[in-house]
Amino acid sequence: MKKISLTGLQPTGIITLGNYIGSIGQMVEYQEKYDSYIFIADMHAITINQDPKILKENIKSLIALYLACGIDPEKNTIYIQSENPYVANISWLLECNTYYGELSRMTQFKDKSLKNKNFTSGLLTYPVLMAADILSMNADYVPVGLDQKQHVELARDIAERFNKKYKKIFVVPEPILKDSGTKITDLQDPTKKMSKSSENQKGVIKLLEDLNIIRKKIMSATTDSEMRIVYDMENKPGISNLINIYSSLTKKSIKEIEEEFKDSNYGNFKSKVADVVVDTISKIQERYYEILNNEEYLNKILDEGKKKNIEVSKKIYEEMIECIGLGR
Ligand code: TYM
Repeated sequence: MKKISLTGLQPTGIITLGNYIGSIGQMVEYQEKYDSYIFIADMHAITINQDPKILKENIKSLIALYLACGIDPEKNTIYIQSENPYVANISWLLECNTYYGELSRMTQFKDKSLKNKNFTSGLLTYPVLMAADILSMNADYVPVGLDQKQHVELARDIAERFNKKYKKIFVVPEPILKDSGTKITDLQDPTKKMSKSSENQKGVIKLLEDLNIIRKKIMSATTDSEMRIVYDMENKPGISNLINIYSSLTKKSIKEIEEEFKDSNYGNFKSKVADVVVDTISKIQERYYEILNNEEYLNKILDEGKKKNIEVSKKIYEEMIECIGLGR
């Protein structure tokens, strides 16, 4: 039987090149090899305030983007998290097997709760909902970027704890990270993650952005005063980030790239990176606009995905209820 890979993305605005490389791109690679599940993490999105109308638009847009990026609906189960009532129930059962201390130590929680003192309890319990997503579908592998690795590790701990306490119900999942693309950084401040919510949008590339603007952002990416195209994340984070992007999109190794550009200057290298990024994103955009308004096609995919998602997680839920001793 094929192993299962699963991932989700939040529909909070247009996804970035970082999301593409760290998450969707990996799923596209693995769809040949694994039984693949990819979903819209819309319940995760409401841990912070969202405009309902915009949230709905973002959900639809993200589904079309998955397909435009090369997620093949024949090889993937594609669904929307909130359409499955079992996942939040499973999340509660897992919450009662997760310690407050574990959740309050999560790096993302610490960062976000420091920035906004008036946060909801959903921000704290968010990693348990993520564990429910993963464990309810028996996922073996979870392709993510570096910022989500800690959450997948927590899902492992919760699964192991539950299996030991009650009964071996859960597959213990593993995060998969792509060497070169685990963390694509901001083009203006390459010590920070490239993030949708970054204040300075000059450092962020979005998949539905104007192609000329994308080129300009890459050409004006922060680098250093040397002129050597060498990978050194600590001392040359800007150029190393561009090497990571180039490597992820061309599948060339860092060594090959250093060799290819050993006689180039930064301007030359940046323009090659821009060519590859623009080429990748222009193809995604072309497919995106073809798919976006094909409601019938999108609904058919989502209905099938929902059915399978509910079928698998219902079984897990019922097993959990039984071994915990709930119900009649
Ligand atoms: P989200 O929506 O913040 O990000 C989606 C995916 O993109 C990756 N990512 C990056 N990778 C490389 N470089 C970057 N700059 C970058 N920025 C984001 C993230 O690591 C992630 O893989 N909680 C998750 C969604 C989720 C999920 C799950 C994922 C909910 N349930 C179950 C996996 C399995 C999130 O907020 O990702």
